[in-house]
Amino acid sequence: PEFDLVIRNGTVATASDVFQADIGVRGGQVAALARGLGPGAREIEAGGRLVLPGGVDTHTHIEEPRSPPTASADSFASASASAAAGGTTTVICFARQSAAKSATDAVAEHMARAQRSRIDYAFHIILTDPTPEVLERQLPALVEAGHRSLKIFLTYEGARITDAQALRVLAAGRRLGALVCVHAEHHEMIAFYTEALLAAGLTLPKHHAWAKPMVVERECVHRVCAMAEALDTPVQIFHVSGAESAAEIERAQARGLKVWAETCPQYLVLTADDLDRPGLEGAKFLCSPAPRTVADQEALWEALRRGVLSNVTSDHAPTRYAGPDGKTAFGEDAPFTRIPNGLPGLAARMPLLFSEGVSKGRIDLQTFVAITATNPARLFGLDPRKGSIAVGADADIAIWDPTRKVTLTNALMLHDNDHTPYEGMEVTGWPEVTLVRGVPVVEGGALVGAEGHGQFLPRGPYAMIAPRGVFPTPFNPVDRTLL
Ligand code: URP
Ligand code: ZN
Ligand code: ZN
Ligand code: ZN
Repeated sequence: PEFDLVIRNGTVATASDVFQADIGVRGGQVAALARGLGPGAREIEAGGRLVLPGGVDTHTHIEEPRSPPTASADSFASASASAAAGGTTTVICFARQSAAKSATDAVAEHMARAQRSRIDYAFHIILTDPTPEVLERQLPALVEAGHRSLKIFLTYEGARITDAQALRVLAAGRRLGALVCVHAEHHEMIAFYTEALLAAGLTLPKHHAWAKPMVVERECVHRVCAMAEALDTPVQIFHVSGAESAAEIERAQARGLKVWAETCPQYLVLTADDLDRPGLEGAKFLCSPAPRTVADQEALWEALRRGVLSNVTSDHAPTRYAGPDGKTAFGEDAPFTRIPNGLPGLAARMPLLFSEGVSKGRIDLQTFVAITATNPARLFGLDPRKGSIAVGADADIAIWDPTRKVTLTNALMLHDNDHTPYEGMEVTGWPEVTLVRGVPVVEGGALVGAEGHGQFLPRGPYAMIAPRGVFPTPFNPVDRTLL
């Protein structure tokens, strides 16, 4: 046969076009894209189906060490299965440096764990202790080895860095050609609120949202944009939760800054009210930033339509809800400060976005492809190999039934966790087959892809994150030169 695989009669969608074509796959890549292709060793009939680029989820916490007693609930084997269950074929996850662990060791450990991945992967390096040794000696070698993005936290005890440190990380990102991603919330305001709430006996899951209202995020997003402007360094703002932060980002972009931002399904479909479910049930919705209001959800959709927010990630961060003896894993009387932050979301990301976005008419199909695959691939230097369906690109494909109605259940997520925050939600549209480099990983809801099929994706220098060369004065403080 002419091809290893032919996907026939599908409706192919990219970030710019929707058209009828067969896809011929050879050696794991798209070799031909036309009607009436010759035979394949394997053929998939896709009449009436959408043929979409496999999703690229650029914010996922997989097998990341967490502070006891909380453990991350997934392995690379299960998380990559979960990703594929929802049509995602590439993840970028995190390797976390700390005072106790060098960036070099953190990356080596995560690279070893990721050997079990069923889908392709890359890493952002989290810096919690950005010493000169890390920034000047370890990072240049790691960036050269293809780890071309960094993450910093401006809140969370034990992970956060100061603004002084953040400026040094931004400068290092600019010098090395690595994109700096930021968790932007005002730490001291959260700490003040938290102390006051606990003293007042307001300790329920819903009070987590009271401890970090929108102002905490909006101020910090503004501050990060200002730091990025001062050092002429591109940044990506993680998990934008509502209208006010989106407005800050839009203002920065209007000033010409290279500021990009993502949101996540939890901010598009959940609200702070979900944290107020009976008992400790609200713990299943506890994440940072906190889910906001219906008006914020609509503002985020509008920001996605207008390109202010350019990608949607899961921020997959699974922990178990149930513990021994029928209690929760974090105890019965746990104040919100002892409930682990983060939601599982790898599998639900694309079905929720498709259903709430495309099926309900909030976004068109091309925008769906752009925000789930094409834009994140470009932003993180994974294109042209990832993020689109084109001759020469990897054959990472989700064959999607746009009309199938599915009720989300934990079992459908194929992750190694005991709950999904989206249990019982109805979606319209579902991925039937997910292929990574032409090889099925999930087919008809069943896991068929092998552990270890995933490949590491080294990233070279790329133009999208080149600095603008514009500083507030004639002095470049990063390279210490006159312009
Ligand atoms: O609540 C969240 N988002 N947990 C995961 C870690 C992070 O902040 O991204
Ligand atoms: Zn974060
Ligand atoms: Zn995260
Ligand atoms: Zn393989």
